[in-house]
Amino acid sequence: MRYVLHPEIVIDWLTKRKHPAEFYLKLETLLNEKALYCAASSLSHMESYFVAKPEHRSWRQFLSQVQIAKTPSYLDHQVLNQIENLDNYLIEQSAKAVDARILYSPMDLQVVNDILPINFIDLKAQYHQMQPEIEQAMDEVLNSTQFIMGPPITQLENTLAEYTGSRYALTCGNGTDALMLALMAIDIQPGDEVITPVYSFFAAAEVIALFQAKPIFVDIEADTYNIDASKIAERITPKTRAIIPVGLYGQVADMQEINAIAKQYSAKFGHKIYVIEDACQSFGAEYQGQKSCHLSDMACTSFFPAKPLGCYGDGGAIFTDDEALAKKIDMLRVHGQSTRYFHKYIGMNARFDTLQAAVLNVKMRTFANEVSTRIELGQRYDTLLKDSAIILPIIRADRASVYAQYSVRVSNRDAVIKYLSEHKIPTSVHYPMPLHLQECFNGLGFKAGDYPVAEQVATEIFSLPMSPFLTEAQQNYIAKHLLAASK
Ligand SMILES: Cc1ncc(COP(=O)(O)O)c(C=O)c1O
Repeated sequence: MRYVLHPEIVIDWLTKRKHPAEFYLKLETLLNEKALYCAASSLSHMESYFVAKPEHRSWRQFLSQVQIAKTPSYLDHQVLNQIENLDNYLIEQSAKAVDARILYSPMDLQVVNDILPINFIDLKAQYHQMQPEIEQAMDEVLNSTQFIMGPPITQLENTLAEYTGSRYALTCGNGTDALMLALMAIDIQPGDEVITPVYSFFAAAEVIALFQAKPIFVDIEADTYNIDASKIAERITPKTRAIIPVGLYGQVADMQEINAIAKQYSAKFGHKIYVIEDACQSFGAEYQGQKSCHLSDMACTSFFPAKPLGCYGDGGAIFTDDEALAKKIDMLRVHGQSTRYFHKYIGMNARFDTLQAAVLNVKMRTFANEVSTRIELGQRYDTLLKDSAIILPIIRADRASVYAQYSVRVSNRDAVIKYLSEHKIPTSVHYPMPLHLQECFNGLGFKAGDYPVAEQVATEIFSLPMSPFLTEAQQNYIAKHLLAASK
């Protein structure tokens, strides 16, 4: 909980008048936790109160520690004209802008439950942590008016390339666009075949079908839920153009084996079979000491808000070391144009927003720390839930998962989810139906039983709350109730 201090409280505090000492001690703690704000509009009032007083030094020190809530620029002048107590009104509006309560008296310091509410993904806590930097970065874009392909885009692409170790990082509209652009870059044709796991988010299979190519589904491993690389070779034909493994729940598939298979059959059929990593859930993960997105010919990621690196809308990126592919994708994402109004390819309008790039430039400053925290939390869930009937995610020894989801399996999923929901623990099922059974793929002629591992997993799996802002107390609470529910 954040609080905007009413000026009277600040004066009481610094002059140590009126309230009991415990209240001021509690305020000290909140100040250290960066949970206390002063409204910008009330600063000069307080400055003039303290200026000639002995407490002026304490005021200045307090000012260097407290957060400042800006006065929103969108206040209505007609409303302002009718307001009796303008100072209080401005404080109220500043509090709204930082999602805080106003602290008028000790009574307002509610005892906050340190466990509930639990968010499935705590985007608000992350925003609150970075709010001043994000607002500053967004203000800079607004004032520059370079909304399309402005400087933050290049800055982000350089950071992404450096972070992943890729030569090129090209941002685009979303993860689905990234997959489309990757397939367009290899000139995918109707009738081509593309191998992809049968159990994943829909997008990879969708874009393959959108180009009238054929998704060739492969079953998943029962423990990692990623494509079973040992079953890929049997699905390769002379029509195979690409393999799209997905790093499901944040752990990459066995890329070394998949790359080797692609290489072997490329040589056999005399045309290149591309490996395109769908890293929409695995940005930040590692495989044999290398970062996800730098493990094959191309990789695609998503910056959807709930992803490990999420922006404040839609976003995505494509990664490659191949200069020719990078150049082509750079054109394809802007209507296939080589220079302005000259079109070398039929492309798309799939550019990333500059405002979103500005957000991610700020988020990249703390991303590596967030990944470490995610890994600690994932391993902590493992410890809390071990020795039970719950099937936990297995992370291979040569990999570090970024835990886009912490997904577990139980045989009585509906009952467990209901029990957790009654205890205010949100969950989500990723995913209730494998791709071969989706209605839109009826024409491909699949039936229940064709992909037994995926079908079994789809009936049992669900995801627990996970974000770098999940507290240990919340995790203990979730684990306690999950263990009770799954007995
Ligand atoms: C594995 C996978 N691939 C592709 C996508 C598509 O990304 P976007 O939603 O940014 O288009 C997602 C997003 O949920 C995903 O999880």
